[in-house]
Amino acid sequence: MKPQPYKFKLSKAVHKFEWDGRTYFWKRSPLCPHKPLVYFVMHLCARVLKISTGSWSLPGLRSRETEKLTQYSASGLNIPRVVTTYKNAWFIMLGEGDCLEKSIVDRSDEEKIIMLCRCADDLLKWHSLGHHHGASQVRNLILTDSQDIVRIDFEEELELVFLPDALKVIDLFLMAGSLNQLFLDREQRQKVMALIMLHYLRNSSDMNLNSIIFRLFLWFQRASYLLRMYPGKLGTDAIRILDLEKCLQIVTKEVYAKSQS
Ligand SMILES: Nc1ncnc2c1ncn2[C@@H]1O[C@H](COP(=O)(O)OP(=O)(O)O)[C@@H](O)[C@H]1O
Ligand SMILES: [Mg+2]
Repeated sequence: MKPQPYKFKLSKAVHKFEWDGRTYFWKRSPLCPHKPLVYFVMHLCARVLKISTGSWSLPGLRSRETEKLTQYSASGLNIPRVVTTYKNAWFIMLGEGDCLEKSIVDRSDEEKIIMLCRCADDLLKWHSLGHHHGASQVRNLILTDSQDIVRIDFEEELELVFLPDALKVIDLFLMAGSLNQLFLDREQRQKVMALIMLHYLRNSSDMNLNSIIFRLFLWFQRASYLLRMYPGKLGTDAIRILDLEKCLQIVTKEVYAKSQS
């Protein structure tokens, strides 16, 4: 397959700016509909005219991203440093580096795999502390100058607590399913997806191989269910269910072969 040049666009919710030699990102809540300049001018005028603006600050209309950032920061997890927040409508965070997908796209396959296994370890750390990412695609991971992994983008709120492990499944599948830009060859991508899942599962407990297979199939079934339930949220974005099905076949084969030898 012919490699496509890497394209990366900032989303409408995020504005990047430089200040005093440092990079910052201004991010608004999905409920706050303005660009920064419009926002500031509007609020300045409102203040002068002594009228109230900002219906997004009503309790029912809060973005939970700032709250989550505070919570994760208290748990010592790697997230960007938040410089300031305003009424849950927007916040400013320090630029921590480049998006991981973009930083490793030109590296060798081996280096990409090593980095992705590190991301799986990092995900496991989050999960073992009882937290979830919710949008763990590789474009929501930042690689810092000192090669640390920082997670961003925590608005996704799927109420799936009724399914055990569902949030872990989503995290792992979103990460594994978002490698299209990194591995253009489909078969190879499936293998890498399988490898990441195996890596995560092997490290997640001291389960024996049979229970790893069992757990993967259970997870796969849940993922298929979640895909049907939330096609817009998960389906269009990252998860390629056929890739996942194939990748589970690879995992099973490998695990089975090892258990025979
Ligand atoms: N603190 C940050 N440091 C570096 N890059 C960032 C930071 N915050 C956002 N970005 C860049 O902006 C992109 C979009 O930010 P994100 O919070 O994921 O917004 P969205 O919810 O619209 O996806 C990211 O993929 C990343 O490249
Ligand atoms: Mg994002």
